[in-house]
Amino acid sequence: MAIMTWDAQTDEPAKRPQGRAFADARVAHCKVALLGFGTVGQSVAELLCLQSHSHLRLTHIFNRQVKRKQASWVPSYVRWTEDIDEVLASDVDVVIEVVGGVDPAGSWVRRALESGKSVVTANKHLIAKHGTELLEVARQNGQKLEFGASVAGGVPVLCGLEHGLSGERLFRLAGVLNGTCNYILSNMESRGLSFADALAKAQELGYAEADPSDDVHGVDAACKLAILARVGFGADVHPDKIHRRSIEGVEAIDFRYAKKLGATIRQTSLAEVRGNDLLAAVQPAVVPHSSPLAHAKDNQNALLATGVHGGETLFAGRGAGGGPTSVAVVSDVVSISRKRVPPANSEASSLKTYSVNHNFEFPYYLRLTLRKVGDSAGVTRILSKHGIEVRSVLQRPRGAKAKSPLILLVEPCRALELEAALQEMVKQGCLPQEPLSLPLLS
Ligand code: HSE
Repeated sequence: MAIMTWDAQTDEPAKRPQGRAFADARVAHCKVALLGFGTVGQSVAELLCLQSHSHLRLTHIFNRQVKRKQASWVPSYVRWTEDIDEVLASDVDVVIEVVGGVDPAGSWVRRALESGKSVVTANKHLIAKHGTELLEVARQNGQKLEFGASVAGGVPVLCGLEHGLSGERLFRLAGVLNGTCNYILSNMESRGLSFADALAKAQELGYAEADPSDDVHGVDAACKLAILARVGFGADVHPDKIHRRSIEGVEAIDFRYAKKLGATIRQTSLAEVRGNDLLAAVQPAVVPHSSPLAHAKDNQNALLATGVHGGETLFAGRGAGGGPTSVAVVSDVVSISRKRVPPANSEASSLKTYSVNHNFEFPYYLRLTLRKVGDSAGVTRILSKHGIEVRSVLQRPRGAKAKSPLILLVEPCRALELEAALQEMVKQGCLPQEPLSLPLLS
């Protein structure tokens, strides 16, 4: 059987290079169990079995219905099992959890820590929702819980914020954090793919979540933003409190108008500390070509972290898929194996609670489909009533059919003001279709 891996350049499946030796079980120092043998799990197993990590020894692979999963290229000293108790009772040093979901993965992580094993996970749902308590369990048991792969795949953003920028006072994080959405949007633009075809391809390439609506509607990115806010700002924020808007409403026409503005459209994740408020939102936005966020293509992610002293720092690279994510997982295992020392103090006690809202101020791109051409005057009146000034009209409805959209740019306004104005237009019957509003990032 051919062993599949991912080519770093094309991200297409590629044949595993021939002739690379597997790790010698006798020289291992750190025993590792792998929970989950899906896209990421298989890539992790490959990395662990290569000679370059000979001090790590993969001893167990756990998966439901494991017989279905067994692969002949895995060395014979690795034990395949569908019995989680067998893994937890073993003498492994590190458990890797790449099963995903909060249950039962969360209870397995907890039990692994309680049984004296460190844990590495790529599970953003689990860390975003239960990270604080699980870090405390790790601390109490003198173990490490690492989750570098949970945000931005192979891009080391979490250790970059936690270590590289620990001397900084960060106040803003702006990122493209979901590879699936980025694949969809960048391929709708560059290759004219339909939304459905681009999503299907992202699923085929192993980027999407088991339920891809988590990607499309911003749930995945909100979990990642909550984890980043915790590490970057020390903020205790539940992902459900982060405002989310789907990318589903974005159409080909919007890319044409964005291009006229010297911009593109990306799913953006923004968080900013203002006093005791944490502004946070995951939403599609108009991003100028000059922004590094616009340069993220396909499954790439990017994060701009802004601090008081050093200004902006950019992290960028491949954010989804087996290859990049497995690198982040194995890097965490290597880090644990190098310094197996318990963390000094509880992270939970140092977190701050913020009032979370999404009332950012931005200029906006609006695409409004009017009931009849004459309704454009009513639209302008409602915007003005809510204190929102029209900057320019990109497409005039004059001579146009009522179905042709009215494309407006409006001056900077608060998200809540704009939402109120759009709601009023809907209520007054001006808009037979859902309006599209995209913030214009600077
Ligand atoms: N579904 C996720 C994404 C996987 O597309 O970014 C990586 O976290």
